[in-house]
Amino acid sequence: MPASGDRGGPVRRDAPIGVFDSGVGGLTVLKELRRQLPNESMLYLGDEARMPYGPRPAEEVRRFTREAMRWLSAREVKLIVLACNTATSVALEMVREEIPIPILGVVRPGAAAALAASSKRAIGVLATDGTVRSGAYVRALKDLDPFVDVRQQACPKLVPIVEAGEFAGPKARAAVEEYVGWMTRGPDGPLVDTLLLGCTHYPLLRPVIGDVVGPAVRVVDSATTTAFAVREVLVSHGMLAAPGRPEHRLFTTSDTATFRRVARTLFGEDLPAVEEVRLPEAA
Ligand code: DGL
Repeated sequence: MPASGDRGGPVRRDAPIGVFDSGVGGLTVLKELRRQLPNESMLYLGDEARMPYGPRPAEEVRRFTREAMRWLSAREVKLIVLACNTATSVALEMVREEIPIPILGVVRPGAAAALAASSKRAIGVLATDGTVRSGAYVRALKDLDPFVDVRQQACPKLVPIVEAGEFAGPKARAAVEEYVGWMTRGPDGPLVDTLLLGCTHYPLLRPVIGDVVGPAVRVVDSATTTAFAVREVLVSHGMLAAPGRPEHRLFTTSDTATFRRVARTLFGEDLPAVEEVRLPEAA
């Protein structure tokens, strides 16, 4: 029997999974989804024209996220992955109320990954300004373990550094030093034993971050656990796509050349065709 939504009609197993991010960075999550769910078709929407979301007021991020969710739900995806940490932090509950399609964010899976990795339950969260301000990671971590010790650090320099393709250079290293030094090199040793990368772009800085923090601190991100959570949900509801030929489509609100250029800088590979869309759609 097909699964059905509490407000929507029957959901097709072979419908694509929708993935939304403020821009190109969510391709880190898409990549992991494709690895763990090779039969699933995916429809990716990146709001590259209005990136970054991190420094924007929460109300504005909520409006943009609502527009993106409406766009994806009009394309009859079976599930939406809100791959943007900032959007998940400030808009997940609101869009869940409004959109008749199940939505999974990245904050809770990220929090679960950090707790699973941490032996001392002392966790540092690196994220955008908006995510840090929202307190969403602190809430998610404390929901899972009320004793957990959480330190947060907003890292506004990192997204522009990554977008410029400078993930391995001296600028990246200096910024990472500035942000993580106080948590990982206190006079009495590190304040945290695990660092959670709470932003789509930071996994691309993982080699530099790992190098700066050293082997005593574990570095985790939410992409792997989010994909795992998606898989678990689809399995539980009998919603996995049958083996076949999955189709992947990429949409951006920027011009497609910009999106492809940033994607090439970030991932070192050319993307398949990218299509341009306008948000809000009716405007
Ligand atoms: N996608 C955003 C996030 O994960 C980072 C980029 C932005 O600020 O829009 O928080």
